[in-house]
Amino acid sequence: SNKKLLVLPGDGIGPEVVGETLRIVDWMAKKRSVSFDIEEGLVGGAAYDAHGTALTDETMTDATHADAVLFGAVGGPKYDDLPFELKPERGLLRLRKEMDLFANLRPAMVFPSMVENSSLKPELVSGLDIMILRELTGGVYFCEPRGIEDLPDGSKRGFDTQAYTTPEIERIGRVAFDLARKRRGKVTSVEKANVMMSGVLWRQVMTALHASEGEGLEYENMFADNCAMQLVRTPKQFDVIVTDNLFGDILSDCAAMLTGSLGMLPSASLGAEDPTTGKRHALYEPVHGSAPDIAGKGMANPIAEMLSFAMLLRYSFDMGEDADLLEKAIDNVLAGGMRTADIMATGKAKVSTATMTDSILKELDKL
Ligand code: NAI
Ligand code: MG
Repeated sequence: SNKKLLVLPGDGIGPEVVGETLRIVDWMAKKRSVSFDIEEGLVGGAAYDAHGTALTDETMTDATHADAVLFGAVGGPKYDDLPFELKPERGLLRLRKEMDLFANLRPAMVFPSMVENSSLKPELVSGLDIMILRELTGGVYFCEPRGIEDLPDGSKRGFDTQAYTTPEIERIGRVAFDLARKRRGKVTSVEKANVMMSGVLWRQVMTALHASEGEGLEYENMFADNCAMQLVRTPKQFDVIVTDNLFGDILSDCAAMLTGSLGMLPSASLGAEDPTTGKRHALYEPVHGSAPDIAGKGMANPIAEMLSFAMLLRYSFDMGEDADLLEKAIDNVLAGGMRTADIMATGKAKVSTATMTDSILKELDKL
C-alpha cells in the first residue's frame, strides 16, 4: 500500500529546503518505484497567518494518520512578539506531545569530505559517527507545576518541575539499546545523579535495564557536565548517548557543532510502537531553524532536510537501501567539492540551494 507522507514546510528556509527534498522524493517515486501519498499542511508562523494558530486540529489529525511527517522549520522575527501560546514553536511542541514523540534521534556525523568544516582538529572528528538520543516529551520542558508567581515581598518567582517516571526512563532506554545493537554496541547514559533526584532514579532505572535487557552491550553512566567536556575533548569515545530532555537539548547542540555544519544535521523523533500494527508515529526535521537571515535568497543548504528524509526512509518506511543511496549521493557530491555558502571552505565551488539539489539528483542517476 502507499506510504502516507505529511509534509509541513513551515517558515523561512523551511519551504525552500523541503521543496528541494520533494525533488528527491519524486526521484525515489519514479526511479525506485515506490508510491508516496503526499499531503501538505501549514505549521508555525505560516499556520498562524492563515488560521491564527501555529497548528490547526485538522493538521494535527493528518499528522497522527500519516506514516511519517517531514517537517521544515518554524519561526521568524515577524512572530517574536506573539504571546507564548501563539508562538510558531507551539506548533512543533504540540506535534511532539500529541504524537507522543518521546525519542529524539540526533546523529552527529562528519562526512570524510567535510572534516575541513569542523573547528576541531581533524584527528578528533574525522569519521565521527555518534547518536544522541534525547527524551523529548518529559522532564522540565513539560512537567507541572510551572509558572511565575508573585511573592509577598513584591518580587516574582519563576519555576519549573523536572520529573521522570520509571516507564518514561525505560522506554527511552530500550530505544537506546536497540540503536546501539545496530551500531557499535555502546550506550552512555547521562544525568546529574549527584545533585538531582530525577537523576538518581534515571541512573537506577537505566543501570537495571542494562542488566536485564542490555546483554552484550557496553554501558556506562556519566554526569552531564562531564559529558559536555568529553564530547569536546574526545568525541569518538561515544556511540549512543541517551539522556533527558534538557541535557539532550544542550548536548545535542554541542555534538552538532563538532561537525561544524548546522545545515547538514538531520533528526528523527519517534513515538511508541503500536503493539498490533507495529507502526510508530514519526517526525523528521533538520536540526536547524528557519534561518530568517538567508530566507528567500536561494542560499540555504538543503542537505539537513534531505538527510532527515533519508532517516525517514530508514526508520519509518523500511527503505534502508534507498536511504544509503541518498546518503552516498550526497557524500559523492560533497567529495566533488560542491558547497553551499554555509559549508564553504577555501577553493570550493559555492552553489545555490537548487544547484546543490541538481547535482545530488545527477549523482543519484549515476549510482
Ligand atoms: P537557525 O538554525 O535558523 O540559524 C542559525 C544560523 O545558521 C543562521 O545564520 C542561519 O543562516 C544558518 N543556517 C541554519 N540553517 C541553514 C541552512 N540549512 N543552510 C545555510 N545556513 C543555515 O537558528 P536561529 O537563527 O537561532 O533561529 C531562527 C529562527 O528559527 C527562530 O525563530 C527560531 O525560533 C527558529 N528555530 C526553529 C527550529 C525548528 O523549527 N525546529 C529550531 C531552531 C530555531
Ligand atoms: Mg535546541
